[in-house]
Amino acid sequence: LIGFYPTLFAGPSVYDDEQVGFDRQIVIKFSHVVAENTPKGLAAQEFARLVKKKTHNRVKIEVYPNSVLYTEIDEIKALQEGHVQMIAPSFPNLSVLQPGWMALDLPYAFLTHEAVQEAFNGKIGHVLFNQLEQVNMVGMAYWGNGFKQMTSNQRPLVHPSDFKGLHFRTMRSKLLDAEFRLFDVKTTQMPFNDVYKAMENGTVDGGENSISNIYSKRFFQVQQYMTISDHGYLGYAVLMNKTFWHKLSPDLQAALREAMSEATVWGNKMAYQLNEKQLEDIRKESNIQIYTLSPAERAEWRRAWEPIYSQYEAVIGRELIDEIRRLQQ
Ligand code: LMR
Repeated sequence: LIGFYPTLFAGPSVYDDEQVGFDRQIVIKFSHVVAENTPKGLAAQEFARLVKKKTHNRVKIEVYPNSVLYTEIDEIKALQEGHVQMIAPSFPNLSVLQPGWMALDLPYAFLTHEAVQEAFNGKIGHVLFNQLEQVNMVGMAYWGNGFKQMTSNQRPLVHPSDFKGLHFRTMRSKLLDAEFRLFDVKTTQMPFNDVYKAMENGTVDGGENSISNIYSKRFFQVQQYMTISDHGYLGYAVLMNKTFWHKLSPDLQAALREAMSEATVWGNKMAYQLNEKQLEDIRKESNIQIYTLSPAERAEWRRAWEPIYSQYEAVIGRELIDEIRRLQQ
């Protein structure tokens, strides 16, 4: 099998339509940071299976999970420079590049799964993907994981005041840091695959994540409390290197697009089921104390975070914030 990408810059004549994918197999490296039995991990494998079938083996998607190639700190640069051809970072990681992505991480931005899908498939999804073209990336799809929950040691988190003085791991986003700071939490941004250790040795007291990440990376074994708060949404932008994408022949692009749209539908359904199931698995496999916020407590968290919307309006842009507000109604 001959990898096509390393010689991409040798000259365009090598990559005319006759040669690309005709007598050589094209290898697309897809790097991500989570485990295989997660929404992102499984959707990536399903995409690989569909691409193989639809291109009659002319394209091979090689999936690299668990940050074996890159962490979220270096995967975007690796994609832009063509060391890998596909990644699927969670939204906070893109906010470092383009602040509009913070819209998706606003506290209680989405109150239902339907609203999430409307954002992905509507104006927000469109505006954010358009911006990516300027930085040599093509947005292929939005993949959902699920709503985020809080985990902690020290004490159960029921009211915003319960966060005071705790130290949390945050994903790479100024907005997420600001959300925790508003609750008097000290924050440290750190790569996903360092979190278990930091929770285990007490470097941090807690964090926020989807059930599937809390389950697959065993955070529940090093945390005493979990609050089902659904206070934010964890999702992914599935991205391809733009230069690479435009070198693919139209028939291969069409096959990849088709595979992606089928993998996305399949993945979103599976993400929901997996998070439900793994919540039950956590209950069965551990002694972590799980508390579900009442509607009144949720409303209290939402109110406490309200100032974030005005603080970040100028950074995120009025258009995206207005659309989030519309989806909340
Ligand atoms: C995290 O950093 O906790 C998540 O964004 C990881 C992921 O990609 O789901």
